[in-house]
Amino acid sequence: MCENYKVVSKIGQGGFGKVFLVQNSRKENLVIKSIPLKEFTHYVNNELEILKTLDHPRVIKFIEFFASQKDYNFVMEYAENGTLRTLINRYQESRWRLTKNDLAEIFMDIAYGLRFLHSKNIIHRDVKPENILMTLDYRVKLADFGISKIVGDSYAQAHTSIGSLVYMSPEVYLHLPYDKKCDIWALGLIFYEMAMMKHPFSKSERARILNPLLTYQCPKVDWIGRKYDPNYQQALEMMLQRDPEKRKDINIICAFPLFDRMFSFLENECALYELKKKIDAARNLGRN
Ligand SMILES: Nc1ncnc2c1ncn2[C@@H]1O[C@H](COP(=O)(O)OP(=O)(O)OP(=O)(O)O)[C@@H](O)[C@H]1O
Ligand SMILES: [Mg+2]
Repeated sequence: MCENYKVVSKIGQGGFGKVFLVQNSRKENLVIKSIPLKEFTHYVNNELEILKTLDHPRVIKFIEFFASQKDYNFVMEYAENGTLRTLINRYQESRWRLTKNDLAEIFMDIAYGLRFLHSKNIIHRDVKPENILMTLDYRVKLADFGISKIVGDSYAQAHTSIGSLVYMSPEVYLHLPYDKKCDIWALGLIFYEMAMMKHPFSKSERARILNPLLTYQCPKVDWIGRKYDPNYQQALEMMLQRDPEKRKDINIICAFPLFDRMFSFLENECALYELKKKIDAARNLGRN
């Protein structure tokens, strides 16, 4: 693949390509997402430069890009504990529910990562549990943002996996103009899925949602049996609006009283992260 990285194992296969766990020369674990070159039609240098500058505790860090003979390769940070999909599946199998606190914590980690991307004017475009990775201490990091922009819309559409279709907002599905609000739709679906441990819409309901002539009603979170707060329904309704204009912006969602406590915790944590980066940079300057 590349002499700088030693492949340890293959850990995944998605619509775009294969994912490998690798080690660099310092024996650090990293991940390479490999996309077959022959199908690769579009390459935006600019976008790669933007990805490299994104450094945030709730997003997977993009490290470098290189082209080998047959593939284009994206090197990134490794998240050790699988994906949110694995976690949801485990809970479903065991018929467990997330506690109110666990739900708020995981949800806010996702929302906070998304808030960062949106603040940089990056639309994720493929928010789904498979792209929400978990670290050793079960903190969340968003993955796979920007890739669809780098590989180009037509490539992305041709390789959209079924998994992505389920989280696709009505406007993206219908090829209408879209903006950051398409990520909010997926965020709402994930919120519902974590609360109820099932997807809110069946196949036929999805078809109904896509028909603008038919009425749409936001699904209901059954909070009573699950000891959740009635405000959970209000939170859901900020996100799962069919009309993107009616969906709330990520800043409004993060400021919702239900998530207040988590939001201030994340703000503090992020400030500490920035401080640590500055101290590390100063130390490195001192060394040189
Ligand atoms: N940085 C990473 N750290 C750990 N595991 C990862 C990482 N990136 C991807 N994976 C694993 O590899 C799997 C496949 O990733 P990939 O992004 O190719 O496919 P996907 O997310 O299932 O679908 P899509 O191609 O639509 O993104 C993921 O679901 C995840 O389990
Ligand atoms: Mg992915």
